[in-house]
Amino acid sequence: MNAAIELLLNRHSTPAKHLGAPAPEGEHLDLILRAAMSAPDHRALRPWRFLLVQGEARARLGDIFAEGYRCRHPEAEAELIERQRGKPLRSPLLILLIAHLQECAKVPEWEQMMAVGAAAEHMQLMAQALGYGSVWLSGESCGDAWVRQALGLLPHERLAGYLAMGTPTVEPLTKSRPDPWTFTEEWTG
Ligand SMILES: Cc1cc2nc3c(=O)[nH]c(=O)nc-3n(C[C@H](O)[C@H](O)[C@H](O)COP(=O)(O)O)c2cc1C
Repeated sequence: MNAAIELLLNRHSTPAKHLGAPAPEGEHLDLILRAAMSAPDHRALRPWRFLLVQGEARARLGDIFAEGYRCRHPEAEAELIERQRGKPLRSPLLILLIAHLQECAKVPEWEQMMAVGAAAEHMQLMAQALGYGSVWLSGESCGDAWVRQALGLLPHERLAGYLAMGTPTVEPLTKSRPDPWTFTEEWTG
């Protein structure tokens, strides 16, 4: 089977705990970012920006997640707060997906969010094509006011989650996918 067809049919996520070093860098990282730029994007608004988080910065991001969690859940047990702190440390690279939403009468916010989603998946596909694994993660932190402020998000921006990325440390599980025809019918008017 053609490699592109194979990639599209077999795209899969890799759990963050199974993503080890090396993370993509240099030319590979450049290819992954460039793949985002060919996502479908109404009016070519490029309604996104990405923050790369690696090395010690992951611990600083973990501190932000933990503090956000503590503020949202003042009664939370220490263990739960520490779990938040540890999340960014599971994989060597995180790509924070920031929706940079723009005023555009022809392109409502929901369309711009879809373009961000397409950009993220393009990056995941390119990563997999290059032999890396990734998983798109989100959670409560994405809408947290403290997390937004700590990351420097502007009022018209949204954190659409992050891609945890690295080299898979285990063989991928074969995933069965549903029959697409159960989601599809012909409309005849
Ligand atoms: C916007 C978005 C946010 C997601 N957030 C999470 C998350 O926080 N935790 C999680 O386990 N999976 C999350 N997922 C799903 C995973 O990225 C992944 O798609 C899912 O585990 C299915 O695996 P697969 O991609 O191999 O089919 C999210 C997916 C999307 C599109």
